[in-house]
Amino acid sequence: MPSFAERIPIKISVNGEPQAAEVEARVSLLDFLRERLRLTGTKKGCDRGECGACTVHLDGRRVNACMVLAVSADGRAVTTIEGLAQDGRLHPVQQAFIDHDAMQCGFCTPGQIMSAVGCIAEGHTRSDAEIAEWMSGNLCRCSCYPQIRAAVRAAAKEA
Ligand code: FES
Ligand code: FES
Repeated sequence: MPSFAERIPIKISVNGEPQAAEVEARVSLLDFLRERLRLTGTKKGCDRGECGACTVHLDGRRVNACMVLAVSADGRAVTTIEGLAQDGRLHPVQQAFIDHDAMQCGFCTPGQIMSAVGCIAEGHTRSDAEIAEWMSGNLCRCSCYPQIRAAVRAAAKEA
């Protein structure tokens, strides 16, 4: 068994950039992104898989980064909110959140947007009820749910 503090080398593509580091086996992907790479757009809400504030894409699928160990992302591709905009243009889902005023304090917003991109790609946008169900892992303490659903609906239509 590796000792508790033993550091393990990992290589992860983050927003298209290769990253190499040595981390303790206990370090979450969320802490690796925030504390090591300083990508603080991904938020830490509950740190136990309940709020969705830490949602990122791992090999194109949405995951809660607080529930993934950095070592298990070795050799894989991670996209964070910082990697969504391309060539200085916001991702259509980012734009839809602005257009529909789908935020108040903004703390949950990066996770909501990453989850919405996944929800649309998965095709779970046929009704408001379906959007609500498949976005239900992302909590919003400001209760912007109607605006978030409207933004997801609009972005899905555009996609
Ligand atoms: S911080 Fe990861 S689900 Fe809440
Ligand atoms: S906008 Fe404040 S928690 Fe969602």
